[in-house]
Amino acid sequence: MEHKTCRTLRVVAVRLLNGGEQFLLTLENPGFSAWKPGQFVMIRPVSWGFEMVWARPVSIAWCDEHGLTLVVRRAGRGTARMAGLAPGDEVTLWGPLGTSFVTDPAAPTLLLAGGIGLAPFWGYAARHPAPENLHLLFGHTLPLDAFPMEPFASLGKVETFYQQTAEQLGEFVALLEARVADFAAREKGLVLACGPGPFLRTVHRLALAHGVRCQLSLENRMACGIGACLGCVATDASGHRVQSCTRGPVFWATDLSPEF
Ligand SMILES: Cc1cc2nc3c(=O)[nH]c(=O)nc-3n(C[C@H](O)[C@H](O)[C@H](O)COP(=O)(O)OP(=O)(O)OC[C@H]3O[C@@H](n4cnc5c(N)ncnc54)[C@H](O)[C@@H]3O)c2cc1C
Ligand code: FES
Repeated sequence: MEHKTCRTLRVVAVRLLNGGEQFLLTLENPGFSAWKPGQFVMIRPVSWGFEMVWARPVSIAWCDEHGLTLVVRRAGRGTARMAGLAPGDEVTLWGPLGTSFVTDPAAPTLLLAGGIGLAPFWGYAARHPAPENLHLLFGHTLPLDAFPMEPFASLGKVETFYQQTAEQLGEFVALLEARVADFAAREKGLVLACGPGPFLRTVHRLALAHGVRCQLSLENRMACGIGACLGCVATDASGHRVQSCTRGPVFWATDLSPEF
């Protein structure tokens, strides 16, 4: 197993998407000997000094010899400052961390992404041995050009739902339920989900109700990423509190409490 060292890496490029609400951050190749879609890195620009102490967790969207690419949404102070990074700036980074999504090449697999939860599916789609078995349902509240959609071009099916009003939420949940029920009815059907907490809790409820194999990637707040600070705990199906950075972020739905 790879020793997860702390690395200092230079920024290669920052590409703002849709006016900068979200951006692609490419760093020089971290030299990971292996990484799997669903895993994440902890990243902290060197320029933060002592001003912001904690690193921020971000999913590995893609990594190869050309570099590590992250898809980032400006959520607050840290990610807004990351958007201002320039080529040559240095960041401290550790990873790859956490668990990854299961790959079952023969299984019809439904990818459910909510907003920036699309990020880990970039690597998942690009590395899957049978992309024709993948069906992406992507719910978003920002225009589609705020997301990198090119990596999903070769999938069996891509569906997008642009939610522009609160009233449309019910329509999206109905669509989620129809697709989860469909994959539950298929032999070996598999559902993988990543997105905000309320979205994941809906998918969790639907997956259990329809009895489909399902994994969820949690986005709990994290400070250390390595199981030491207990800042990221989730509740498992037995009611135990577990670190989502090391026991997750990807969990089987049946292993989580409905409240996780
Ligand atoms: C395993 C994992 C993978 C992630 N992958 C990505 C990714 O690929 N791209 C991406 O843009 N973001 C990702 N996130 C979320 C990202 O870590 C947070 O948006 C970021 O830490 C917020 O930092 P900030 O300093 O900008 O915001 P803060 O100033 O710390 O907070 C601003 C707002 O963001 C909310 N927030 C803070 N942390 C999180 C969090 N972990 N999840 C959701 N909301 C949060 C706060 O509640 C607050 O409302 C991931 C989180 C985890 C745990
Ligand atoms: S982030 Fe520190 S224990 Fe998970």
